[in-house]
Amino acid sequence: MSTEINNIAVLTSGGDAPGMNAAIRAVTRTALYHGKRVFGVYRGYEGMIENDIVELSSSSVKHILALGGTFLKSARSQEFRTLEGRAKAAKNLRDRNIDALVVIGGDGSFTGALKLAEEHGIKVIGVPGTIDNDLFGTDYTIGYDTATNTVIESVDKIRDTASSHNRLFLVEVMGRDTGYIAASTGLATGALSIILPEKKNTYEELFSDLRSAQANKKTSNIIMVAEGNHLGDIFEIASAVRKEFPSIDVKVTTLGHTQRGGSPSTNDRVLASVLGHYAIKGLIEGREKVMSGMINQKVVFTPLEDAISKTTELDYEMLTIAKILAT
Ligand code: F6P
Repeated sequence: MSTEINNIAVLTSGGDAPGMNAAIRAVTRTALYHGKRVFGVYRGYEGMIENDIVELSSSSVKHILALGGTFLKSARSQEFRTLEGRAKAAKNLRDRNIDALVVIGGDGSFTGALKLAEEHGIKVIGVPGTIDNDLFGTDYTIGYDTATNTVIESVDKIRDTASSHNRLFLVEVMGRDTGYIAASTGLATGALSIILPEKKNTYEELFSDLRSAQANKKTSNIIMVAEGNHLGDIFEIASAVRKEFPSIDVKVTTLGHTQRGGSPSTNDRVLASVLGHYAIKGLIEGREKVMSGMINQKVVFTPLEDAISKTTELDYEMLTIAKILAT
């Protein structure tokens, strides 16, 4: 039985991330360069089930390098979580003689890819695309750099008005399970406190930071709050602060999905181009069920299983440095 790959599908799945288009372009053009046919699957696994699949040419991916979002669109599919859904999806690939699939996404997307590989023998390879930076096997995920740049651009503006009005701003950033965005942007914007899902932050600690700031005559402050933190909803945190410090004028800003949009940064374009390119090289060399990632400037392939289940611990020193520098 020949193991040669001829027809390759590519999809984006889960939360979109700036640089996904650059990754699709890299996958498509590298595969075409190696004489393979390429198929784009619209709306992730949802589109695979609904047979929303088109063949891509080099010109299908022209002028997308600089675009945010994903032109293939993305979705979180409930039906693909079922055996029947995956069987329908696999049939649509088989009907086109598609023997390999490149999945650009995060942990949920890779979990789906592994199931497709195990149940239907499709060769799968992952490319890390999520603003959350929460995948093991790569120093950075595609989209993280742009998202953090978006955050600091907004927080710098918030800082201007906070300073003019002597206000405290609680700024909520994305990160349901991990606080990479909050930690790095907190350090980069001089946040007084950084509240993260990974840490058991307490009100005593937060109030003590605020007291130190008052003692140091700091008149305006930023508190960076990751959405998945354990203290609670950002509005609850704001109420608790108002109760403890009635003299402080507390405001809340939720940056929300602004963090997921925008033209990708140089770093994200480079990362997406390299990892998309290597995903195809990896497939051609016979790799499967792995993710292409970049560690210390070198491309590495990590089993999808590890990329999903293992974690790279957050650099807690960043929090210490942020605190020393902000108080
Ligand atoms: O997948 C990344 C992420 O941005 C999380 O940080 C966030 O919690 C989630 O997506 C939001 O997803 P949705 O767009 O489906 O609300």
